[in-house]
Amino acid sequence: GLPARVRIHEVGPRDGLQNESAVVPVETKAEFVRRLAGAGLTTVEATSFVHPKWVPQLADAEQLFPMVSGLPGVRLPVLVPNGRGLDRALALGAREVAVFASATESFAKANLNRTVDEALAMFEPVVTRAVEHGLRVRGYVSMCFGDPWEGAVPLAQVAGVCRRLAEMGCDELSLGDTIGVATPGHVTALLDALGEEGVPVSRLAVHFHDTYGQALSNTLAALRHGVSVVDASAGGLGGCPYAKSATGNLATEDLVWMLDGLGIETGVDLGRLTATSVWMAEQLGRPSPSRTVRALSHK
Ligand code: HMG
Ligand code: MG
Repeated sequence: GLPARVRIHEVGPRDGLQNESAVVPVETKAEFVRRLAGAGLTTVEATSFVHPKWVPQLADAEQLFPMVSGLPGVRLPVLVPNGRGLDRALALGAREVAVFASATESFAKANLNRTVDEALAMFEPVVTRAVEHGLRVRGYVSMCFGDPWEGAVPLAQVAGVCRRLAEMGCDELSLGDTIGVATPGHVTALLDALGEEGVPVSRLAVHFHDTYGQALSNTLAALRHGVSVVDASAGGLGGCPYAKSATGNLATEDLVWMLDGLGIETGVDLGRLTATSVWMAEQLGRPSPSRTVRALSHK
């Protein structure tokens, strides 16, 4: 069966905007977060407290977070890779953080300048301290399906990293298809493997990038398997202008269109969400790649 309700974990302001080549003014980012909340999204990943040289697009996290942190009823998770990141998030009163591990050595090195084990060792005290502060902690696992350097990623390798993050105390694990190569059978196989590893499906979220147009099919496979938290980015934001193969996340509008059709509750107003993405596309100077945004805005 399918879940009666899905919680959408909106990542546009973080995963989407971290990939923009142009600098988006902090006022525009704050307005984006406010409009997403106004459209009914209850979890909006706002920014990252990472090294500003590694992700200059989000170097304004200290300015942005206080501009949006007062929104009632909205969870605003932020990415923190290490103790320095957690310090910065705690100083601003963040209530929810995410660490981000990799299932592959190549991406751990590229994204975190660490081996897989070194990255997990870096996260452990961060998760412990966040839990002590009463924060909710999400653990991302990138490259769960395929890796641009290593190809297909063995299920056991992914399951091992997931189990270690769960044991550390992460409340939720988000399975990342960073380069969007997953297909539904692979999703089902990974979820089966995680079940065998003892990771309960109630703690899982899925995070699909839409490179090959499979994100929605993959999501449906995950819903059928009992997953009820889905990551998406408004308008399908994301993608690096210098790497043609990299694209944005599953568009939140495409997801809501499907869930509405299935009678699955999300609390999201598709009209207001689409208007937000049309507005954001104007700010960025190019149209949204989301089919649903295009269909609804040309009506
Ligand atoms: P490093 O160069 O190894 O850093 O980078 P370090 O630990 O050696 O520290 C070097 C200096 O950086 C020190 O300063 C630190 O204080 C400073 P110094 O003492 O030399 O003056 N520093 C910081 N400053 C501010 N904030 C911090 C911070 N940390 C250290 N948090 C590091 C290691 C982890 C910091 C770096 O690799 C990094 O920031 N990486 C982040 C990369 C990133 O954000 N990637 C995108 C998010 S992941 C993603 O998009 C995937 C996802 O969407 C899921 C999916 O699709 O798969 C989540
Ligand atoms: Mg991502």
